[in-house]
Amino acid sequence: MSVLVVGSSGFVGAELLRAFGGDTVGTYCKTERPGLERLDITEAAEVDAFVNRLRPRLIVHPAAQPNVDRCESEVGESYQVNVAGTRNVAQAAARIGARYVYFSTDYLFDGTDGPYPVDAEPSPINVYGQHKLEAEQIVQATVADHLIVRVCGVYGYHPEGKNFIMGLLQKGGDGVTMNVPSDQWGTPTYVENLAEAVKELSLGSHTGIAHPVGPDYLVRIEFARLAAEILGLDDSFLNPMTTEELDQPAARPERGGVDNRSTQAMLETRLLPAREGLLAFKKVMEVRT
Ligand SMILES: NC(=O)c1ccc[n+]([C@@H]2O[C@H](COP(=O)([O-])OP(=O)(O)OC[C@H]3O[C@@H](n4cnc5c(N)ncnc54)[C@H](OP(=O)(O)O)[C@@H]3O)[C@@H](O)[C@H]2O)c1
Repeated sequence: MSVLVVGSSGFVGAELLRAFGGDTVGTYCKTERPGLERLDITEAAEVDAFVNRLRPRLIVHPAAQPNVDRCESEVGESYQVNVAGTRNVAQAAARIGARYVYFSTDYLFDGTDGPYPVDAEPSPINVYGQHKLEAEQIVQATVADHLIVRVCGVYGYHPEGKNFIMGLLQKGGDGVTMNVPSDQWGTPTYVENLAEAVKELSLGSHTGIAHPVGPDYLVRIEFARLAAEILGLDDSFLNPMTTEELDQPAARPERGGVDNRSTQAMLETRLLPAREGLLAFKKVMEVRT
């Protein structure tokens, strides 16, 4: 099957490209990478021409502006990429009759009652969450054969990436204090496992919403301590702080995360608990560094 991964210069997209393999086409926008083609999803005509030329049977779309604090201050940019960009790709997918898989987030929810099942009512508390929710609604209204995959706290090896675990590794190694939320809960998800699960879901026929995340519900500081233990770091560099103390620009859902049970029941791929995911991460890190 011909597959297009939109946003494969990013953390999750790079892993999806690896998982799909073969002649999968991947795109970048600002971060040029060998083998990837350039595509700016905010340009409707460009998206249409690109998709028409390739005519993939499956379009997987992790491209986004996922920086939650930046979305809060750069609302126009967040709208262009996360809402208008999604509309452009969804419409192009619908025009050629491709199956469309869109990446969303647990930040759709207010964080009073996580982890949230697939049928929970979204109520975002920041711009990023509002825009991802708008994007989900556009996907649902535009492409009949669609799948929305909501993910949370993705960790994994990504040398240039700013994901939580790479930051922890660097700070722990250098003995630099790392402030970690002591009251933000989530469902940490190992990136290679996520890519395998999304590949399986994409190649299947399920439509609607899926939560291919890890099964553990952990507060961020507990996850950080577990990671430090597995990576052989003395965890005294981890400094627990409440959301109120952290005073981040965008509001954060405290009891966030999404519930993977209905998704796990559809999958052959086993969604990995945090300890297993971190051990797999450690192995990959040892090979790639
Ligand atoms: N990572 C997590 O923990 C997490 C949690 C919840 C949800 N998600 C969702 O998962 C998806 C992937 O996240 P990620 O962590 O992989 O993000 P990322 O590393 O920041 O990657 C974002 C990707 O989007 C591309 N992109 C940005 N603007 C674009 C534009 N105008 N046109 C085309 N491509 C554009 C980037 O390309 P360039 O860099 O080349 O510009 C990059 O390939 C996102 O939808 C995010 O909302 C992630």
